[in-house]
Amino acid sequence: KKPVTVSKLRKMKQDGQPIAMVTAYDYPSAKLAEEAGSDIILVGDSLGNVVLGYDTTVPVTLDDMLHHTKAVTRGAKATFVVADMPFLTYHGSIDATLGNAARLMQEGLAHALKLEGGAEIAQTVRTLTQAGIPVMGHLGLTPQSVHQIGGYKIQGKTSEQAQKLLQDALALEQAGAFAIVLELITAELAEWITSQLAVPTIGIGSGAGCDGQVLVYHDLLRYDSGAPAKKFVQTYANIGDTIRGGIAQYVQDVKERKFPLPKHAFAADGELLTSLYG
Ligand code: KIV
Ligand code: NA
Repeated sequence: KKPVTVSKLRKMKQDGQPIAMVTAYDYPSAKLAEEAGSDIILVGDSLGNVVLGYDTTVPVTLDDMLHHTKAVTRGAKATFVVADMPFLTYHGSIDATLGNAARLMQEGLAHALKLEGGAEIAQTVRTLTQAGIPVMGHLGLTPQSVHQIGGYKIQGKTSEQAQKLLQDALALEQAGAFAIVLELITAELAEWITSQLAVPTIGIGSGAGCDGQVLVYHDLLRYDSGAPAKKFVQTYANIGDTIRGGIAQYVQDVKERKFPLPKHAFAADGELLTSLYG
């Protein structure tokens, strides 16, 4: 299997072939996502929430992203891997932005980077694209701006906001973005924006009218400590319960001396036994 390319993704949109993206954060999750046939793996800064235990993605650093991106690209050698540029790593000087992008590409071995924002970051998207870095956009609910937005709520509900989101999407496409994530916008708006773009849209909580879908690994597998499932997530497996049950059984077996069994142990040969016991 060969990784998809940005031109293949555009063709998939033209052909009406849906694009499946999933997040992964480490070697085993990346390996499993690749084996499962995901077109794109996203090393999302959602790792701040689901792996590092923060309330938002704001505390996630470039070093955090690098650490996890390296593990993902070691686990998924034949899949197109996109890494998030984390909070405030692409808003300073263009030199600083390029330096941060270079680390994710050269040390993390990402194939592309994802940046949150619209027209206001179009020039940055253009510069990165011209430097040979494929850029994925991200509009709608942009979690790095949660404190400005004031919570995790549906975006683009007024016609003014909807127009602004379309203008932002067009600005990103014109700046060279190869795809755009649409997070938590109404299904009607997502479908409309999708119809106005040549590059694919990848939705999360934005309905079926996008060219592709993305979900967070821990959400679709219920790999968590029992938080209620989000409305836009389908539960495809219940890994949290499986893991909790497995560990509980192990703990009980140790306490009841049911583990280890003789078959789990190594026997000494006769000579060693003689030397130990005489
Ligand atoms: O960080 C992330 O997982 C994301 C997706 C939800 C698009 O940005
Ligand atoms: Na993200």
